[in-house]
Amino acid sequence: MERTTLVLTILGHLLLCVTSAPVKQQRDVDIYSFHINSTVTSRYAITVITSRVANRLNESKEIHFQVKIPKNAFISKFRMTIEGKTYDGVVKQKEAAQQQYSQAVSRGESAGIVSSVGRTLEDFKTSVTVAAFSKVTFELTYEELLKRRLGKYQLQINAQPMQVVADFKIDVYINEHPGISFLEIKGGLKTQELSSAVTSTLASSTKEAWVNFYPTREQQTKCEGCGENGLNGDLIIEYDVKRPKQNGELQASNGYFVHYFAPTDIQKIPKNVVFIIDHSGSMHGRKMAQTRTAMLKILGDLAQEDYFGLIVFDSKVDVWKAELLQATEKNLEQAKAFVKDINDRGATDINAAVLKGVDMITRYPREGSASLLILLTDGDPTAGETNTGRIQENVKQAIGGKFPLYCLGFGFDVNFDFLEKMALENDGVARRIYEDSDADLQLQGFYEEVATPLLTDVQINYNGASNLTQTSFRQYYNGSEIVVAGQITDNSLETLQTEVIAISIDSKVTYQDSVSTKDVIDVLPQHENFIQRLWAYLTVKQLLEKEVTLKGDEKEAAKKKALDLSLKYEFVTPLTSMVVTKPQENETQVAHKPKEGEEPRTHHRRVLALQPSSGFVKSHQYMVQSVRPLGFPFLLGPPGHADAPRLHGHKSPARHPPKASRPTIKLLLQPAVRFLISILPKPICYDAPAGHKLLLLKDPSSDFSMNGHLSDEGFQVIVLHYKTEKLRVSHDNIVYNNGKNRVKFVWGQLDPGNHESHNVSIFLRSTKLNVTMGSVNVVFLLHNKSGDVFLWPVIHQQPKNADIQGILGKTDLQYEEVSDSKIKIKDLEIEATWSSAIDYRFPTAPSVECWLVPVQSALQGELSDFTVSQL
Ligand SMILES: *[C@@H]1O[C@H](CO)[C@@H](O)[C@H](O)[C@H]1NC(C)=O
Ligand SMILES: *[C@@H]1O[C@H](CO)[C@@H](O)[C@H](O)[C@H]1NC(C)=O
Ligand SMILES: *[C@@H]1O[C@H](CO)[C@@H](O)[C@H](O)[C@H]1NC(C)=O
Ligand SMILES: *[C@@H]1O[C@H](CO)[C@@H](O)[C@H](O)[C@H]1NC(C)=O
Repeated sequence: MERTTLVLTILGHLLLCVTSAPVKQQRDVDIYSFHINSTVTSRYAITVITSRVANRLNESKEIHFQVKIPKNAFISKFRMTIEGKTYDGVVKQKEAAQQQYSQAVSRGESAGIVSSVGRTLEDFKTSVTVAAFSKVTFELTYEELLKRRLGKYQLQINAQPMQVVADFKIDVYINEHPGISFLEIKGGLKTQELSSAVTSTLASSTKEAWVNFYPTREQQTKCEGCGENGLNGDLIIEYDVKRPKQNGELQASNGYFVHYFAPTDIQKIPKNVVFIIDHSGSMHGRKMAQTRTAMLKILGDLAQEDYFGLIVFDSKVDVWKAELLQATEKNLEQAKAFVKDINDRGATDINAAVLKGVDMITRYPREGSASLLILLTDGDPTAGETNTGRIQENVKQAIGGKFPLYCLGFGFDVNFDFLEKMALENDGVARRIYEDSDADLQLQGFYEEVATPLLTDVQINYNGASNLTQTSFRQYYNGSEIVVAGQITDNSLETLQTEVIAISIDSKVTYQDSVSTKDVIDVLPQHENFIQRLWAYLTVKQLLEKEVTLKGDEKEAAKKKALDLSLKYEFVTPLTSMVVTKPQENETQVAHKPKEGEEPRTHHRRVLALQPSSGFVKSHQYMVQSVRPLGFPFLLGPPGHADAPRLHGHKSPARHPPKASRPTIKLLLQPAVRFLISILPKPICYDAPAGHKLLLLKDPSSDFSMNGHLSDEGFQVIVLHYKTEKLRVSHDNIVYNNGKNRVKFVWGQLDPGNHESHNVSIFLRSTKLNVTMGSVNVVFLLHNKSGDVFLWPVIHQQPKNADIQGILGKTDLQYEEVSDSKIKIKDLEIEATWSSAIDYRFPTAPSVECWLVPVQSALQGELSDFTVSQL
């Protein structure tokens, strides 16, 4: 449970003391056994996590279970066993589950649930109250079809039990019929210290492999990234299968079949590729540099017979060369020089840029080649055509199903739904590029996946089968795999036959194969239905993708079908939720599958609980204001349920000599707003008192400044000054004035608002305002928190000068964690409380855990250094 902090203001100065919440070593709650058991049968992985926990206290205790599972997986079972009684999670349609959840909330029960998103993992978290000296077993099952990328499958297992566990085990069993060609173990848990804990065995038939990870108690504390809280890391198992037959691997069982098709001995098809690169202002800095690095590497990897084009765009679309050119040494040299010169500039005209790319490719058709378009952007369309629906229509019509469009969304300020829809409508995929130090490698990695087309226009047919998953594919790339599953509907069918028809570099090719439907396949009895489950998994995944591009009745039909299957196979998908009813107090929790990108960047949970259990920190803190100096420190406890804070003085005021000048303590409740600084290893947060006019960002060298008036929740008014220009953003409108013209927008207005002039670009869509002034790019979000409307500024780009001022310019803070209640900033140890804050930099306003420190420590100065008299 997080502790909250109260802040004491004395004559305008902030004297701040933090409760040093002693974090107890909770061995009273003992995880005495933690097992992860993963079984992979023909790439279909079913993983069971079992955690056994004892409450060794003589009183009842809330026990938490929190694990991370791969994003691609569907949870299919959750069970708690307490004193011999089992409580199973039930998968329901999302709306129905939501209702149950809301009812629990309205009854005042703690109905928290939780799931969150990292780059590849999601959180699952729940808790239950366990009686004195009792035990609980949590068991979570999830399923996924491992996808082949760059020639291998990857099974990622995360282990972070939060304490050292006496009996810790990870067991992986892989069964691949054609044989395993290589097996490799990686990840943070495969380090030097832990290497003796890992064993892997490949059967001599190569059909089976076992990986076991049994770290001792000591090893659990000694490894990299591990500590008192035990293991913390991933075990990543990579492998590929043998492919003795080019026509693929066909398996049938219990009325279902799966067909894996990944031929390798084919010559690659030369490609026509056009890269469409966003160089709008928001790409400034590292993003642009990483894009340049990646593009230089990608250009270096083009084969001589490939043709390529380069487009860069902001509000204007520029081409390197008007037509596609062959990847000769000379052309590549010139293209690289062009790439090195790409710099960030203005707004974002996605529509014109993509249409230009389509036009370039279609104007120079080449026999026996494979065409593809790759779009890289980090923002919303803000120039030219800005209506995303119309852009999608334009692009779809222009491409006409002739080649795929891949959309790479850089960072979290992109409209990923829009990019995804546009890619899916044009036979491509959308991928998020995480803003991190390895972004250039992510870009290259994506390119490598599509770098080698081997076949185009792949069509696969089956006799006597129906309810097939996707059977036609625009292109097949080396290192990937085509998977089709279906139901064998003809009961008399003895053999299932398949035929693959595709176009290779120089001819039409056909592959045929057949399999007996009566053969018994050699799998564990509890997994004998894996083909059926795999079929259901793949069907649901594909329906959810297809649903994105459909409209009206078709959309509803696809959704309905995906929902029915999710319910039947008990998958927690975006359409369903799992309802867990706790034994005590009939508490209900609901597990939703979060959407991609819903909780960006932070690896912390998104708290959906509307009425969380007591002690939950709101962004709203109270301050105690005194009118006289007190001369001794106060420690203030959490406000608890009541709004009035409790005071715990180190010394009682009465013990001070009660002179005439004895300070009169007047308690004024004054709200404060919690700010977050996203830095590593963990975010820092601090409380700033409401009511002040604050200096948010100032760059004297470019004559830019931004000030805001802080109210109880966020900002009421923010004013930006840039040379002689002024932009006033308030919670009801936005007014821009450059001395000559005045432009006004209203939040939530129907049409997007747009203004552009020299070095200034303003773009409003609904509740998001994107402003570029010189080298500063700020996005303003309009939040509505139960009726309180306020603004939150998010700096996306700022000049790199050393003399940047303002509370939002403080991004370079560095600290070390010293203990559970102390961190060290600039050689100074300060009290810090592990707490949480609402991250208003995202429309979904997720809750984020952070080290709460005094405002002076966070800002490295007094608050008065950051206030202004006029906005
Ligand atoms: C792991 O799961 C499989 C199949 O569900 C089961 O047969 C096996 O005994 C389990 N292994 C361990 C070590 O629990
Ligand atoms: C639990 O044990 C502690 C001492 O270990 C004791 O003070 C307390 O009264 C006990 N509580 C109950 C409910 O028995
Ligand atoms: C496809 O990839 C494999 C390695 O995964 C490589 O050996 C093979 O040469 C590649 N084929 C082509 C045509 O590039
Ligand atoms: C829990 O629900 C059951 C059945 O709905 C009811 O009989 C019981 O009294 C409830 N318990 C509590 C503590 O509310």
